[in-house]
Amino acid sequence: KLLFDRAFDGVDEMYAMAEKTLNETIAELGEAAPMAMPNTGYYLANHLAYLGKKITTLGQFKETMPVIKEWITRGPRLDNVFKAGFGTFLAAEIIEACKYAKNPQPYGEEYHGHLSDAEARELGVPLVTGDLPGFVVIIGPAPSDEEAVELIKGYQSRAIFVFLIGGIIDQAKRMKVNMGFPVRVVAVGPDIWAVAHIISFVNRAAMIFGAVQPGDREELDDYTFHRIRAFVNAFDPVGDIVIGAGAGAIAMGFPVITNDTKDMWKVPKSLIIQENTKDFIETSLEARDIKLKITKIDIPVSFSTAFEGEIIRRADMQVDMDGSRLDCFELVRTKDSSEIEDHNIEIIGPDIDSVEVGSRFPIGYVVEVAGKNMQSDFEPVFERRFHNFINCAEGVMHTGQRDLIRIRVSKVAFDAGFRAKHIGEILYAKVKSEYDSVVDKCQVKIYTNPDDLKRLRAEANEIYNKRDDRLKSLTDETVPVFYNCILCQSFSPAHVCIVSPERLGLCGAVSWLDAKATNELDPNGPCQVVTKERVVDENLGIWEDVNENVQQASHGSLQQVTLYSIMQDPMTSCGCFECICGIEPMSNGVVIVNREHTGMTPLGMTFSEMASMTGGGVQTPGFMGHGKHFIASKKFMKADGGSRRIVWMPKALKDLVGSRLNKTVQELWGVEDFTEKVGDETVAEDVEGLATFLAEKGHPVLEMEPLL
Ligand code: SF4
Ligand code: NI
Ligand code: NI
Repeated sequence: KLLFDRAFDGVDEMYAMAEKTLNETIAELGEAAPMAMPNTGYYLANHLAYLGKKITTLGQFKETMPVIKEWITRGPRLDNVFKAGFGTFLAAEIIEACKYAKNPQPYGEEYHGHLSDAEARELGVPLVTGDLPGFVVIIGPAPSDEEAVELIKGYQSRAIFVFLIGGIIDQAKRMKVNMGFPVRVVAVGPDIWAVAHIISFVNRAAMIFGAVQPGDREELDDYTFHRIRAFVNAFDPVGDIVIGAGAGAIAMGFPVITNDTKDMWKVPKSLIIQENTKDFIETSLEARDIKLKITKIDIPVSFSTAFEGEIIRRADMQVDMDGSRLDCFELVRTKDSSEIEDHNIEIIGPDIDSVEVGSRFPIGYVVEVAGKNMQSDFEPVFERRFHNFINCAEGVMHTGQRDLIRIRVSKVAFDAGFRAKHIGEILYAKVKSEYDSVVDKCQVKIYTNPDDLKRLRAEANEIYNKRDDRLKSLTDETVPVFYNCILCQSFSPAHVCIVSPERLGLCGAVSWLDAKATNELDPNGPCQVVTKERVVDENLGIWEDVNENVQQASHGSLQQVTLYSIMQDPMTSCGCFECICGIEPMSNGVVIVNREHTGMTPLGMTFSEMASMTGGGVQTPGFMGHGKHFIASKKFMKADGGSRRIVWMPKALKDLVGSRLNKTVQELWGVEDFTEKVGDETVAEDVEGLATFLAEKGHPVLEMEPLL
């Protein structure tokens, strides 16, 4: 049989399966039965991406079947077989969707199935920025259980995300491989149709980050080809149905590597036969042009971004360095070159082997750097990266920052020889390699004596406070320039953030001082100086020169932004926003929801539903992504009436920003305890309940002019 025939036969097979499943499910639930995948604002993402169709009922799938049929042309051109390949993904999505129509958790704990939008983002961001080099889909059982583990671990240690489908999952389970989203090995499902979930993730990444319009298959292929470095490993025997799906994968730019030699054809760079399965990894990386960054660090455990999301549970930990219970801190200090002995890592106090397994242990470390071009404004920028750096060590978990850090070391890492000094080794190696333009010498002092820590923590806090005061004392009017940030253009090509002292980047991670430091660390890097000399409208926050910068940085897709309005030319969003703010027409106020909040809002939309309206670098008046700390800013929606328009936000967010927000509202409008008048999920999740609450509390918005 020819390869094309095998592919078309495979699509036929998937089609037949979809038809059968759909008919059975409709017979059971009826055509009107609601159809929605959990935790997504993208409906059935493959249907949305390929056909521009928003599926909300089971019966709508009946319109899809003839389309798939039509795509199985059996035509002789490559494009014919590619199109049929996409048909397999639609058919597979129908089969999987039927499972979810019957049961919202059809896979229970055993398989992962559908990926939520939150997961799609968590995986999508590093994937499209290149922080994560790529992902592999492994299909079928490996020749042996041992080889299955070797392959999975091999990818893991190279920071490649691993999706498993079919027999290899049982092999991994037998070999007790630790699986799950955080460790980047995901058992998707037992059958080939589970591939629909992976394609759904890819399609959402293209729509979220690439602003690819639903239904635009050409743009979609282009985006996946250039931005998503993925590939497939299919073990012998490879059936027609896998080849059908493989055709779709190849069309997206994802090569397929197999050890099946029967009835198989080589297609250069796309369908590759590698009989020696031990060489799968090398062959795959070469086929997809993946080059790995190697950092050599002198520690006894593996170091890779694959371990960044690893969680170390109480039962598995050797020590718990808990900054919420003990005096802990982390700090960067600039020193004179003469005070530093490069690569000196000193421990002042006992090491972690001095305490019993499972104990708490205090730690504080100061990374001292010197360099002609070093500035103290860079210190917090380095410090904020420590979290990523330390987390990359296998068996080590770091959370928090400043004096609220927490580091856990697993028993396995401890047994492999990991000690306190290795934290120093990691920080030394990463600071030297990532900031080589300004750091000439670096040494690390690690403190573990409670008395030292008590004193040093207090000193560190004085330094943190000074930094915060420096930022607080700056206003948009007093600084000479703003900065832009285009870091997110790697996946959201039209997006630009304008960062000012009173409005930080929407990801919450880039303040004006950070943008300034980033610019000085790398003048050709993601943050550029934006002058603001030719003011157009001070109230709205419009400057001619800011607009010129935005036009240029967005390659012409944006003409004008306002810094202080949500209604007129609001700033765009890439997808990284910590919060979304949207107007609530009944009350003339705005609702804010943060990413962590999964519940409903009075707008009748969840965070992810609002996110799907806001992302992709387009302006959506009435909706705006922003950082948490922008809420308490005097410039928040200043032109539209300011923060006293806020009528609802989740309780946790209120607790976080409440005292600063209250202070702002009090200062500007004389309203006391403002947040007590702001609704949250404990008061109402619908607009009627909210209206009653606002009236009861006498919310100031009730006396304001209409927004619209
Ligand atoms: Fe930069 Fe904005 Fe992306 Fe944050 S969200 S990294 S400020 S472009
Ligand atoms: Ni972003
Ligand atoms: Ni962003």
